[in-house]
Amino acid sequence: MEKVLSGKPVAQLINRTCINLITRYELKPQMVLIQVGNDPASTYYVQSIINSGGKLGCLTQLKILSDKISENELLAIIDEANHNPDVNGIMVQKPFPKHIKESKVNSAVNPEKDLDALHPLNLGKIMLEEEGFLPCTPAAVLFCMFYYGIETQGKHIVILGRSSVVGKPLANILLWKRTFANATVTICHSKTNNLAEFTTQADILITAMGKANFVTPDMIKENTIILDVGINDIILSNGETGYTGDVNYNLCYNKALAITPVPGGIGRITTSVLYLNLVNACLKSRNLYKSIDEYIKLIFMDNNEIY
Ligand SMILES: NC(=O)c1ccc[n+]([C@@H]2O[C@H](COP(=O)([O-])OP(=O)(O)OC[C@H]3O[C@@H](n4cnc5c(N)ncnc54)[C@H](OP(=O)(O)O)[C@@H]3O)[C@@H](O)[C@H]2O)c1
Repeated sequence: MEKVLSGKPVAQLINRTCINLITRYELKPQMVLIQVGNDPASTYYVQSIINSGGKLGCLTQLKILSDKISENELLAIIDEANHNPDVNGIMVQKPFPKHIKESKVNSAVNPEKDLDALHPLNLGKIMLEEEGFLPCTPAAVLFCMFYYGIETQGKHIVILGRSSVVGKPLANILLWKRTFANATVTICHSKTNNLAEFTTQADILITAMGKANFVTPDMIKENTIILDVGINDIILSNGETGYTGDVNYNLCYNKALAITPVPGGIGRITTSVLYLNLVNACLKSRNLYKSIDEYIKLIFMDNNEIY
């Protein structure tokens, strides 16, 4: 296994599958991407989503809304996209202004167009191990491990972070009775006592905390595999803004068996999964649904019989 688990080759394989499916079924995938306010990190992410979509042949309709918009107005815009037959997927970029309730927004998106699987119905399916949308970041972690041949079955995976978008759905997927999962999972959070007691037991450590360079070598065991989901703004030595993960990469590099870089790791794969979900939503609307196992065969084994 490579020491540095780059997201690039994984993203390339997912993108190739998207393009093949779009061409084969003459799809015209269209996403509505909603951004409330002008948070700089969101603007950067939204722009990279649009650029990636263009390269794949997907149309992304960006709606930038004022941070003063009322909750009802936002819900009405989501509802319009829910009912537009040309729109296959909807993504509402976080964070929201305080007066907008995240749970209301998540529940307002049509579950059939819910690209990040945040609707309670889609989260419930994950819990029950039913087929549906895979949430983008957890799926990116899963695909990364699959690509690099990282066995999860029987392994102790420790996840730092319990958010509904990363930690909790990822933990549930890793508990699935499937060969790409079957792990023993521990989730830690900000109220966990003696965090290092758990992290030093991890065969695989997944961090999704939003705390720059938090994990240090004393917190990991020798030869652990690290997947760093965190993306944190930092000021670089040249005064420019850069990004770093939740793990102190330079300090942990030698002790770890393998580690994802930030940037260029899980984040890179996440955008590709978003478009895979959009393509999947298109296929579903034409009763051409493909299962997770079929996607794995398409992406990683280039198995053309599945098309
Ligand atoms: N790579 C990608 O594609 C991608 C996608 C989404 C997010 N992200 C990044 O991943 C990170 C997490 O995102 P998120 O949306 O899950 O964040 P979030 O909703 O803020 O959740 C952060 C989690 O980390 C836990 N935490 C915070 N400080 C901790 C500490 N000192 N010790 C242990 N746990 C601690 C929190 O615990 P409590 O629950 O107790 O507060 C919470 O569960 C961010 O850096 C974000 O930018 C990356």
